[in-house]
Amino acid sequence: MWLFRFVVAQVLLACIAMALPADVGRSSSTTTVSLVKQFGYPIEEHEVQTSDGYILTMHRIPYSKHTGYTGKRPVIFLMHGLLCSSSDWVLSGPDNGLAFILSDLGYDIWMGNARGNTYSRRHASKTPLLQPFWNFEWHDIGIYDLPAMLDNVLYQTGQDQLQYIGHSQGTTSFFVLNSMIPRFKSRIRSAHLLAPVAWMGNAESPLAKVAGPLFGQPNALVELFGSAEFLPSSKAMELMGSLLCRDEAISQVICSNVLFMLGGWDSPYLNTTLIPEIMATTPAGCSINQMFHYLQEYNSGDFRQFDYGSVRNKKEYGNKNPPDYDVEGIDVPIYLYYSDNDYFASLIDVDTLRRTMSPSSLKRSYRMPEVKWNHLDFLWGLNVKEILYNTVIDDIVSA
Ligand SMILES: *[C@@H]1O[C@H](CO)[C@@H](O)[C@H](O)[C@H]1NC(C)=O
Repeated sequence: MWLFRFVVAQVLLACIAMALPADVGRSSSTTTVSLVKQFGYPIEEHEVQTSDGYILTMHRIPYSKHTGYTGKRPVIFLMHGLLCSSSDWVLSGPDNGLAFILSDLGYDIWMGNARGNTYSRRHASKTPLLQPFWNFEWHDIGIYDLPAMLDNVLYQTGQDQLQYIGHSQGTTSFFVLNSMIPRFKSRIRSAHLLAPVAWMGNAESPLAKVAGPLFGQPNALVELFGSAEFLPSSKAMELMGSLLCRDEAISQVICSNVLFMLGGWDSPYLNTTLIPEIMATTPAGCSINQMFHYLQEYNSGDFRQFDYGSVRNKKEYGNKNPPDYDVEGIDVPIYLYYSDNDYFASLIDVDTLRRTMSPSSLKRSYRMPEVKWNHLDFLWGLNVKEILYNTVIDDIVSA
């Protein structure tokens, strides 16, 4: 019973926190633009409006400071994960940040930002201070945000195709996009998916284990109250941190960040030099429904659309169960990179994904030999370039 009250309290706190601005308690000077400028690279901001009214910011590094402008370049689009933003790809600097590394290699780098995060909190008619703004989840990122951003990038660059890199929820929304809107298959030359999350029935995340059975049910709560922003207050985070984490200075700091509580804090690879930057830029905001949908997947073991309960499902989908995402039908060259110690993308679930994908579209599945590599190390692990990105780059070049 205490567990139930605890989790309910968390959600209520998150709802209260919805009334606070996004950057409470965070140094507002650390942004994708300031980080990229700090390292001497050119940076552009581009706004795009989705067909349902959300105004998103994309960040672009058009060329490298080492090469200067060299004319039209092949395009790479980078999409962040849950509670994250375009900052993920640059905060570790030119030697380790994937955006910089690819820019130095001659690519035109575009970084997306999903609705609700630090850079995409505007709407043509809704305000993020009120609940209706937050009625979305990652299905909507896949069917509205990605199409708007990818179309805009191709239009602005005059290119026919781009290459896609996603991390975590940036892979989930990729599967949603391609199973719902097949026209993108001719626009995406290849997709490189880091820590791919589709099926989640075997996730190891302690938070999923605690909250899954309660909040992974078909969603009565959402029916009653609608969604809200997921942004637990710092007090609540401290409490969770001290409950869930060992009492060592550095891990306590990490644990007070919801991102680490979700993604795991026990990696020997985390580059601790980056912690201040990570704390300054995450959590970047998401809606509670994004969490609920993942928890439903954890509970049901299915990769399918949001479960509203049988009555509303009938209305929405014409069936009492939500429809599955058609992963078999996806016809884009896909490269998967995954690891043994990933709380979100467990080996069993990634195997289900690999078995379900059409063999002709699965170009490579790379299981990392580093057994302790975790969900966040794909972004911020020590020596991530040598350990992982060089492999990804070889695949991008040969795709
Ligand atoms: C850790 O991060 C710092 C700051 O970006 C960087 O200078 C350093 O090279 C990184 N260390 C490793 C081993 O990746």
